[in-house]
Amino acid sequence: MHDFKYKNNKFYCEDVKVEDLAKKFGTPLYVYSYRTLTDHYLKLKSAFSEINPLICYSVKANSNLSILKALIAKGAGLDIVSGGELFRAQKAGCPAQKIVYASVGKTDQEIAAAISKGILFFNVESLAELKNINRIAKSLNKITRVAIRINPDVEAKTHKYISTGKITNKFGIDLVSAYKILLLRKNFKNLKICGLHIHIGSQITKSEPFVEAIKKVSYFIRRLKDQGISLEYLNIGGGLGIIYDHEDPQTAQIYAGQILPLLKRTGLKIIMEPGRFIVGNAGILVVKVLYIKNTPKKKFIIVDGGMNDLIRPALYSAYHNIWPLTKVSGAQKADVVGPICESGDFLAKERLIAKVKEGDYLAVMSAGAYGFSMSSNYNSRLRAAEVMVSGNKAAVIRKRETLQDLIRNESRTF
Ligand code: LLP
Repeated sequence: MHDFKYKNNKFYCEDVKVEDLAKKFGTPLYVYSYRTLTDHYLKLKSAFSEINPLICYSVKANSNLSILKALIAKGAGLDIVSGGELFRAQKAGCPAQKIVYASVGKTDQEIAAAISKGILFFNVESLAELKNINRIAKSLNKITRVAIRINPDVEAKTHKYISTGKITNKFGIDLVSAYKILLLRKNFKNLKICGLHIHIGSQITKSEPFVEAIKKVSYFIRRLKDQGISLEYLNIGGGLGIIYDHEDPQTAQIYAGQILPLLKRTGLKIIMEPGRFIVGNAGILVVKVLYIKNTPKKKFIIVDGGMNDLIRPALYSAYHNIWPLTKVSGAQKADVVGPICESGDFLAKERLIAKVKEGDYLAVMSAGAYGFSMSSNYNSRLRAAEVMVSGNKAAVIRKRETLQDLIRNESRTF
């Protein structure tokens, strides 16, 4: 599952005492376990070994170069959604032919950069975008590969902000329109439509929505074949849920058991784009208790990390376990809140939490995915440092920002 646990009442990441890291590098601090990270990737790889899919780790979940590099070294490709992520992918050493590129809003510059680098394919989200990629490829005198992102109109049964496969969502192209595009494929002289893509949402804990979506596209692929339209790739996206609280998500094995037969029947090369499944439980956010504040109605544990460091509780009411770095006896009901000037700035609400005191440290669990990558400088706070642990070694993989970093791109013109 993961490599964060107590030994003699002290909290460890692999063989490193996390409190030592907090003291050495300061807080708020992201701490990742290399073993957990790579194990999760390998679990998925081995569950699907029969079909040897290309696993394109979703960079948006955590885009630190060291995380990307660790996964690339194990054979992973990358799923990107911007020119910035393309830049990161290259800097981390990802072969261009292992990069797939989604996003409803790719700019001309981003498209041109990705074509020039020779990525595997674009996941195209609209007819307008398809035409634009064709136009840009023509101007560069290139033929570029694209997959059509299908909106399969399925209910992913997850938070509405991270559900992407309903027809009312902005993502992908409905089946009827996709069919029309495929019939007209010869008109796009600088494109090779080589596959289909789906991604129905994130933090999906049961296989049924995946199965439903894959069944829909499989049927569509058969129909296309009957029409003499054959494809090479099926990209099934990401979305696998993890345990934050008491979820009971499908394991890689169960997921594979459910969808492998369907995937094999398509005869296509399979790509998947997991993010959270790989990195979610491989990271924690360590914060320090600044003050305990008792009000007539509530107790607040005020810590030095907030919604600028980890926005998931504020944005999705997401639940993250919070454990003390040193076990203490007794518990208290409290809100764990950050220093940001918003009432939405909380890490936990009405939570039974260890009886910590000022100066103690807390670990906010399962913060590896969409933690640092969604962090900001709001309230002019410095973004946290990130540390990777492997065995008994720890290395800073991103320095804490400095006050100078805050104003680096600003001028005092007016
Ligand atoms: N592929 C595409 C096209 C995506 O849009 C995403 C995530 C993924 C793959 C990876 O999904 P995953 O395996 O990580 O579920 N910030 C939210 C999650 C947003 C997901 C956006 N797209 C959160 O903190 O829960």
